[in-house]
Amino acid sequence: MAIFDWRQRKRPLDGGGTRRRRLFRPFYSRSSKKLILFAVIFLAIFPPLFFHFKLRRFRQIIAQKCDWLHHPPLVCAHGGDSTLAFPNTMDAYSYAIRSRVDCIEVDVSRSSDGVLFALHNRDLQRIASNSTVQVGDLSMKQIKELDVSQIVKGTLGNRRIPTLEDALASISSSVQRVVLDAKVGPPMYEKGLAQDILSVIKRTQCKNCIVWAKSDSLARDVIKRAPDMTVGYIVMVDHLTGVRNSLLRMKGAGVVGVYHPLIDEKLVKVLRRRNKEVYAWTVDDADPMKKMLHLGVDAVVTSNPAMFQGLMEDLRTECLEEGVSIRT
Ligand SMILES: *[C@@H]1O[C@H](CO)[C@@H](O)[C@H](O)[C@H]1NC(C)=O
Repeated sequence: MAIFDWRQRKRPLDGGGTRRRRLFRPFYSRSSKKLILFAVIFLAIFPPLFFHFKLRRFRQIIAQKCDWLHHPPLVCAHGGDSTLAFPNTMDAYSYAIRSRVDCIEVDVSRSSDGVLFALHNRDLQRIASNSTVQVGDLSMKQIKELDVSQIVKGTLGNRRIPTLEDALASISSSVQRVVLDAKVGPPMYEKGLAQDILSVIKRTQCKNCIVWAKSDSLARDVIKRAPDMTVGYIVMVDHLTGVRNSLLRMKGAGVVGVYHPLIDEKLVKVLRRRNKEVYAWTVDDADPMKKMLHLGVDAVVTSNPAMFQGLMEDLRTECLEEGVSIRT
C-alpha cells in the first residue's frame, strides 16, 4: 500500500506521470491493476521455482543411484569365482577371469615346512573333513596330495591346491589387481612371513599385487620391507569385545579392507581424506552390493562376482534410460 501512496504523491512533480495515469484509468481500476501485477509476479516466479526444485530432487535421486558409474568399484573375486568351483583353485580363478573381474583376492597360508599356498583354513577343513586342522599343520607334500574333487564335482579338471607362486603366475597378468590376504598361523606364525610373501611376489613379478592381513604387525612388516608395495589393514568388529578396531592406525597403508556392514558415508569420507582406498568385504547379497555402489567404495570383494557384475549392468542400463528421460 505504502508504495502506491508514495508514487501518487510523487508523480504530480514530474508532469508525464499524471498523463499516463489518466490514459489507463478507463480500462483498469487501481485494485485490478494490483491483482494483475500479483498474478504476473506469481506466474513468473512460482512455476519455474517449482519445476526447478522438482527437477533438482529428481536429479539428486538419480545421482545417488548412478554416481558410481563415473568411478565404478573394482569387482574383486574372493578366492576366484567360488560359486562355480572350489575357492582358491585354478578353476575358481579361471571362471573369475573369464567373467572379466577386475581383481582376485587370494588367501595365503604357510605350510609347516614354509611353503605358501593359496588356501584358507576353512577350505582345508572342508577338504580334509577335519574341523580343527590348519594349513600350518600340514607339510607341502601333504597339501599337494589333497584332492578337491572329493567334495566338489564337475570342475574344469584341476583338482589340486595351488601354491601361491603357481596361482600368481597364472592370474596376475589377467586382472588389474591381486589382493593377497595373508593368514598368520602355526607353527611359525609371523616369523619370516613378510619376507616369504615378498619373495614370491618378486619371483612372479606381480606388479599389481597388494598385501593385506588381519595382523597389523605383519602388515607393518611388509610396509617396512617394501615401501613401494601397496599394503592394507583390516577394519572389523572384534568377536569378543564387540568393538570396531581403529579406522586410522597405519600411516603407510594405502588400502583399508573394511567389513562391509561398518561402511557408511562418514567412514568413506574419513579414509578418503587420508588418501586411503576403501575395499569392502565380503559382499555376497544384492542389497549390500547396491549400498556399496552408492557409497562409492573403491573395490568390492565378493564370492559371487558374476552376480555383482549382473547387478551393476542392470543398474547401468536403468541409469542410462533415466538419464535420457531427464535430458529430453
Ligand atoms: C584333525 O587335524 C588335527 C591337526 O592336524 C589332528 O591332530 C587330528 O587328529 C585331526 N582329526 C581327525 C579326526 O582326523
